[in-house]
Amino acid sequence: MDAIKLLKADHAEMRDLLSELESTTSRGVKKRQQLLAEIEAKLKAHTTIEEEIFYPEERGEIEDDMLDEAYVEHAGAKKLIAEIEAMKPDQEYYDAKVKVLGEYIKHHVKEEEQPGGLFAQAKKGDEDLDAMGERLKARKEELMGKMGGRAVS
Ligand SMILES: [Fe+2]
Repeated sequence: MDAIKLLKADHAEMRDLLSELESTTSRGVKKRQQLLAEIEAKLKAHTTIEEEIFYPEERGEIEDDMLDEAYVEHAGAKKLIAEIEAMKPDQEYYDAKVKVLGEYIKHHVKEEEQPGGLFAQAKKGDEDLDAMGERLKARKEELMGKMGGRAVS
């Protein structure tokens, strides 16, 4: 799987989990917690492999401004995840924070997948996306293993 396909598959998974989370009512609190934990684990692994491998390799192929923004947006998402993880679901602003995390994810997916976005620019570049895909996959499996989540190809 090439780098773009792998990252897009991550996005699709996170989007599916998000819509499941959004459709899970407060009656299923345990289910919500499980879904949220899964989304957080996947998002952490996803942003890490992008920051460690994909973005640095694509420096020069993708506009600098776009790459810089991606790092800043990732930092915002990680801060929010840390806040959510430190909270109890009945605390003030908990639901709002979960909602905003979902919005961050949707925004991230759009920035990367839209026409002229990061992926479109990466595809036009000279980097070997197949080789990069292998590296992303290996690092992701390592990260998901560490977090106790299941690694998905
Ligand atoms: Fe991404």
